[in-house]
Amino acid sequence: MTEKFDLLDKEAASGVSRRSFLQAVGIGSSAGVMLGAMGAIGLAPTAAAHGNGPGGLAHKQDWRWRPPTKGDFHAKGKDNKKHVVVIGAGPAGLCSAYELQKAGYKVTVLEARHRPGGRTLTVRPGDKETDIDGVTQVAKWDDGIYMNCGAGRVAQWMVTMDYYRELGVPYEVMTNANAEAYLYNENRGSTPGNPTKYRTAKADFYGTVGELLTYATDQGSLDAKLTEEDKVNLKAFLSSVGTLRDGVYWDAPSHANRGYAEYPTAWNFAETELPPTRPTMSETLATRFGNYFQFENNWEQAMLMFQPVGGMDTTYQYFVRAIGQQNVFFNSPVTGVENTSKGVKVTYKDKNSKSYQISADFAVVASPAHIARGFANNWGTDIDTGLGEFSKGSAAGKIGLQYKSRWWETDHNIYGGITETDMDLQHIWYPSYGYGRKKGLIVGYYNTGNAASTYGALTPKDRETRAVAQGVKIHGEKYRTELERSFSIAWHKVPYIEGAWAYPNQSSTYFQKLQEGAGNVFFAGDWMSEVSAWQHGAFWAARYAVQALHEKALATA
Ligand code: FAD
Ligand code: ALA
Repeated sequence: MTEKFDLLDKEAASGVSRRSFLQAVGIGSSAGVMLGAMGAIGLAPTAAAHGNGPGGLAHKQDWRWRPPTKGDFHAKGKDNKKHVVVIGAGPAGLCSAYELQKAGYKVTVLEARHRPGGRTLTVRPGDKETDIDGVTQVAKWDDGIYMNCGAGRVAQWMVTMDYYRELGVPYEVMTNANAEAYLYNENRGSTPGNPTKYRTAKADFYGTVGELLTYATDQGSLDAKLTEEDKVNLKAFLSSVGTLRDGVYWDAPSHANRGYAEYPTAWNFAETELPPTRPTMSETLATRFGNYFQFENNWEQAMLMFQPVGGMDTTYQYFVRAIGQQNVFFNSPVTGVENTSKGVKVTYKDKNSKSYQISADFAVVASPAHIARGFANNWGTDIDTGLGEFSKGSAAGKIGLQYKSRWWETDHNIYGGITETDMDLQHIWYPSYGYGRKKGLIVGYYNTGNAASTYGALTPKDRETRAVAQGVKIHGEKYRTELERSFSIAWHKVPYIEGAWAYPNQSSTYFQKLQEGAGNVFFAGDWMSEVSAWQHGAFWAARYAVQALHEKALATA
């Protein structure tokens, strides 16, 4: 029971999924596949690219990305006249359409919502969203302000970066970790009324643990584990990481890394120490701040991170432009995808609910699995069971708070980064854009699980009230008094998405059937990848589906 709580505890603290957390500590299965993916984009030895393909399928051991080309059809003395309908203009759908079109396919993308990007939604001034309960919000931000409602960060190793380069999407650093941001625990730690800067918490934890291990080493407690040389090396490391002096933390100036109440200025105007004086070892451990530090080492989350300039879904405007606006239809929810004797038949509605049908050679279904399952289809029971294995409606939420001043920069020296809490707001994000401008937007909560369900059940105004009451505990009254307006999202209530993310059961034979596709229908989405809840996963799943489709198209050409 305790162990389970601790895992969930760490999950909430780090902002990553349980599965990602397991992977981060080496329990997950994806390292080989990640290496394979890196190999395919030239970042790892080529041999590594021969790891299992997406899904870790034994029979796909030699899978690697071979982008289809027009030449593949020409080599068979044919032109590529195949037409593919793609369902969904999120990352997986648009990537599928883009890669297929490069290989000469005619593509038609049908998107249910009014805009591309799916869960990478960026809300800009004037943007309007209505949830499945019929609650409408309009983002009344000032010019230049935006809120990334879903995806917000991209790691350097992700294939997402390759598409930025290929499409010319401008991007900038996203500050995922900031020594000036806060840690605040009020439910299991010991800090109510005392938010602590990351740098202070780290100095105290590394100093305290370093001192303890140095002591244990000197006492001979680790003799069974360490040689004399190991001990020297270990103590040198502890001395450095813990800023120890003669094995002791705190002796001035060894605790300077805590930061200061006032920083040094002109000669003879030295720093003012942070109160209180040295916390005891028990006090430091009791804060439980150390449990947040793994986040910065997490393979998905470690700095540097990046974001497209102007908002995450900018990327998908570039994709749409590359594919051709005339080939992407918005407000066109698909209701049926069926195999026919000649290919596929896709049924969709326009915004007046009038039904249309498109006959094509192939379809790529890139909507969330639980939505696809509701389509009229003849994919068979295995596919239906496979789609049914994905959880429906996992909750995640965010609120954007526009402030009339950037008090977090001027009063708290925080320029980007994330404050971690054990309150149900979970994470507070400071903007990694617009530094030094007059106004700005904080993400006042980014939460998942029960916390997200709790917030999602409230009205937008009540979400704001609850989030602000918690944020004030960390930042003081300006968190309330400088606030101008808010906009919030509950992903489990966004039409045609209705959930934050879902994970595949890779050992399931039904999942393998899904990967193979049903007749001329193929499936893509982050949920079909090793890296669900990331655009990277959606892109790789799209590549996999595209390649499978292309192989079939060539075989039947
Ligand atoms: P989606 O983005 O869900 O796109 C599916 C599309 O299908 C949607 O546009 C939907 O409207 C459409 N559709 C559904 N039904 C129909 C229908 N009947 N007819 C036509 N179209 C339909 N990723 C990162 O890389 N970095 C992050 O920091 C990050 N943070 C995230 C934070 C949150 C809160 C959330 C929710 C997601 C985050 N992600 C992040 C994940 C990322 O957004 C997803 O991995 C990615 O959007 C998945 O792409 P997709 O195409 O598989 O699905
Ligand atoms: N990929 C999601 C994030 O980084 C879960 O927040």
